[in-house]
Amino acid sequence: MSSEGTVVGVERLEKVYGGSIHAVDSISFEVGRGEIFGFLGPNGAGKTTTISILTTQTLPTGGKAEVLGHDVVKEPSRVRKGIGLVPQELTVDDELTGRENMELQGSLYGVPYSEAKKRIDELLELVKLADSAHRYVKTYSGGMKKRLELAEGLIHRPEVLFLDEPTLGLDIQTRTSMWEHINKLKKETNMTIFLTTHYLEEADTLCDRIGIIDHGKVIALDTPAGLKKAVGGDVIEVEVAECDEDILEMIRNMPAVTLLDGVCSGNRARLKVPDSNFSLPKILTNFIARNVQVVSVAVKKPSLDQAFLEFTGRELRDDESSSGNEKADPGARKGRFRRRR
Ligand SMILES: Nc1ncnc2c1ncn2[C@@H]1O[C@H](COP(=O)(O)OP(=O)(O)OP(=O)(O)O)[C@@H](O)[C@H]1O
Ligand SMILES: [Mg+2]
Repeated sequence: MSSEGTVVGVERLEKVYGGSIHAVDSISFEVGRGEIFGFLGPNGAGKTTTISILTTQTLPTGGKAEVLGHDVVKEPSRVRKGIGLVPQELTVDDELTGRENMELQGSLYGVPYSEAKKRIDELLELVKLADSAHRYVKTYSGGMKKRLELAEGLIHRPEVLFLDEPTLGLDIQTRTSMWEHINKLKKETNMTIFLTTHYLEEADTLCDRIGIIDHGKVIALDTPAGLKKAVGGDVIEVEVAECDEDILEMIRNMPAVTLLDGVCSGNRARLKVPDSNFSLPKILTNFIARNVQVVSVAVKKPSLDQAFLEFTGRELRDDESSSGNEKADPGARKGRFRRRR
């Protein structure tokens, strides 16, 4: 089903839990070699479920998915050979040192010891953990553990790397350094990277293309620039001392201005215009001429935030929480490739 150069091919893929929860609802997309492809969506959108299917941990209930030309249902072991996974939930072992965790991972993937040793040194260097490699992981910070997870996912030099919320819960500094690692990987190895995130800024900076997923459906798929362009125009948020129907009517009558949401919210009106540089002076002149007291004005250039709002009808909040949808499996110490559900 996939064309040449396609590394991940998904066609009308479905996962229904318990007969009624459509976690993944007939999605189709392709990811090309060397791409950083981002799956962007709110909590519960279906991102982890999609990754679980593509990494052969969960069986789909419908549709088809291929990774590196292999069907994830019919040839799971061939798929696993070529992929790496950094899961949303931490799987590193607290009771081992960083290096021991890496060694264990290497042996699980059958990397010969002498080769593994060399790669472990390189990878620990890459994620800046070389100096802490001898320490027990229980003494690591959350960011260090995430970086160790990333290094573990790379031990067998996968062709495709799946990163499920690689920066969730990390502070901004650690997030930035994680982005640098991911970018470096792409530049140096031409690895295909499939990542999920609900950080818009992260998706915007890192990804070549982004699929916006909501309620199990891919509702938009394009380059970050393409998604922003689809939004079209700038948004001007005007706060007035007191908003009333007359003011709203005035806005509605302004040429080339669209009143978003149709109402004021907390005395703020959101106005969409093709170009704020051109429209803002005219809008303010109108307000002043009508003796409307303007408290504040904010201009928002097209952003992924707006694109998301436009496509889904709501904002994707940059919250730190995860839905906790994952059913933790305490028995699976090395949970990278857990049993299928
Ligand atoms: N094992 C399961 N059994 C039943 N329902 C599940 C299971 N795993 C996930 N779900 C449901 O499927 C939907 C999608 O969940 P999923 O974990 O894929 O979302 P997500 O986009 O990764 O969210 P988050 O941003 O919180 O990680 C949710 O409604 C979730 O409750
Ligand atoms: Mg998830």
